[in-house]
Amino acid sequence: MYISIDKAAEVLKGGGIVAIPTETVYGLAANALDEIAVSKVFAAKERPFFDPLIVHISELDELENLAVEIPKNARGLAEKFWPGPLTLVLPKRKNVPDLTTGGLQTVAVRMPKKQIARDIIKLAGFPLAAPSANMFQHLSPTSAEHVLEQLGGRIDGIVDGGVCEVGIESTVIGFEGETPVIYRPGAVTGEMIKDMGYREWGMGGGNPSPGLLDKHYSPGTPLFLGLPSEVPQNSGLLAFGELPANSAAFAKVLNLSERGDATEAAANLYRLLHELDSFGLNRIFAVILPKEGLGNAINDRLSRAGTAKI
Ligand code: TXA
Ligand code: MG
Repeated sequence: MYISIDKAAEVLKGGGIVAIPTETVYGLAANALDEIAVSKVFAAKERPFFDPLIVHISELDELENLAVEIPKNARGLAEKFWPGPLTLVLPKRKNVPDLTTGGLQTVAVRMPKKQIARDIIKLAGFPLAAPSANMFQHLSPTSAEHVLEQLGGRIDGIVDGGVCEVGIESTVIGFEGETPVIYRPGAVTGEMIKDMGYREWGMGGGNPSPGLLDKHYSPGTPLFLGLPSEVPQNSGLLAFGELPANSAAFAKVLNLSERGDATEAAANLYRLLHELDSFGLNRIFAVILPKEGLGNAINDRLSRAGTAKI
């Protein structure tokens, strides 16, 4: 199942699907311009066709082959944050299949920072459509083992590039004229682009990004956001920073970052959720992070992963 980058490029050229590492999460890649290859990605993930994929490139030049009418601010963001955890949603060119964009007239494009990812794109010779390499609505993978668990028998190979340094999915930004609109929070934060006068979509209702469903990124164990005043039997705690006074009442406690660092917490988020999910707990409680920097992106993922709020 684990294959080299040369083998991965060969499989992709033959219309196959391969999981590849990026700095955010592992992606399940296919030739973005080949509708049949892309359809295999939807099938393997059991992802609905209305949910569009991100197209990955290895050089800034490749953007012109995918998108038209690129706002000046989009170009500015690309120059500043690419390669990196930023996805830009732009009007698409005709050669990008409707299936790749979920029928939308826009295409989401990202240049990943992880060298292996860009090497594979170069070797393949075409842009790669790659959603996170997990079953639809489940936890995103931040290691090759996570991919193997969920998609092992369903795909043509996995390239093991170690753990993902950032650990949560890219920031997705669309445009209204020149105004950047953050559809999905990530490691490129609003604070970092405030000189452009960005806007944020609130959670839930009317989001223009079809994949931002309320339920997403979910472990099998019911997850609750916030701390219970009385801890039910066989509960797990996903903590951040100093432990709460009642932490001894939890059957398992994992800490996103003992020193309370949101960047470290993002890198650990999915790995620790996978781990908590493996203990056979009745419930997982996750703390809410301070609403600054990557804290917003982590709270966004946790609130969608949660089956209930308290
Ligand atoms: O970090 C990432 O973005 C990872 C790695 C593999 O690059 N990919 C990823 O893909 O998270 P996925 O498919 O799990 O999430 C893509 C998100 C979805 O919420 C989707 O709805 C949104 O991007 N999206 C894609 N194309 C769009 C478009 N044309 N307009 C609005 N939203 C779009
Ligand atoms: Mg995903």
